[in-house]
Amino acid sequence: MLCVRLLRKSFGDTPVFHDVSLDVARGEFVALIGESGVGKSTLLNCIAGLELPDGGTLALAGHDLLALDEGGRARLRRGTLGFVFQAFHVLPHLSVAENVALPLLLLGRPDARPDAPRVTEVLDAVGLRGLGARLPAQLSGGQLQRVAIARAVVHAPALILADEPTGNLDPDTAARVLAVLDAQVRGNGAACLLVTHSEAAARRADRVLRLTAAGVVPA
Ligand SMILES: Nc1ncnc2c1ncn2[C@@H]1O[C@H](COP(=O)(O)OP(=O)(O)OP(=O)(O)O)[C@@H](O)[C@H]1O
Ligand SMILES: [Mg+2]
Repeated sequence: MLCVRLLRKSFGDTPVFHDVSLDVARGEFVALIGESGVGKSTLLNCIAGLELPDGGTLALAGHDLLALDEGGRARLRRGTLGFVFQAFHVLPHLSVAENVALPLLLLGRPDARPDAPRVTEVLDAVGLRGLGARLPAQLSGGQLQRVAIARAVVHAPALILADEPTGNLDPDTAARVLAVLDAQVRGNGAACLLVTHSEAAARRADRVLRLTAAGVVPA
């Protein structure tokens, strides 16, 4: 599902990482750890086609991501990916349910309404039942994080990229959202790459990898 080879990225003259290679198969849950600032979020952004690497190759669901133009990358992202951003990126003027329904809307799906059963189902799954009509400003940090997780799985994407999705959650709520991600992997055959500092989260994974400036190694 995801094949990364010898990826290299710098910001201006400052190198972030080089020689990064990793694979995530369908139905596989891979955790990625590494110290703060090593480039974990940058790597996820490259995989999502939101940021361009300086070298290497990236294949997503068999498509050569770096051979596509911006429109092609956006279409591949919409159709294939669910992304939980470290900073949530929940849209402030849309209700919780409208935020969660957004990926369905972008895919032109007929069930793209905020009151659609699928939207209610994922909000229930992350423990936000009844909060669909609220605006993001009316939620706690941990609740916002769960909106981002519901939005990342609502369209049952083939690849889920999750950047510290349990960073703001208590252990019980964290376990609940990890179970939601796990269900996508075990039940739907999704591939999941999870960036985390949490041992509990890493324990759920099939493999744990460590990102360093000079590549990815088993943790
Ligand atoms: N847009 C940017 N311009 C310049 N430097 C950047 C930019 N984005 C990130 N960086 C730098 O690149 C490095 C990697 O950042 P990144 O956010 O990927 O780290 P991270 O591993 O996700 O860290 P954390 O665990 O704290 O989230 C950092 O040194 C950061 O300061
Ligand atoms: Mg980060």
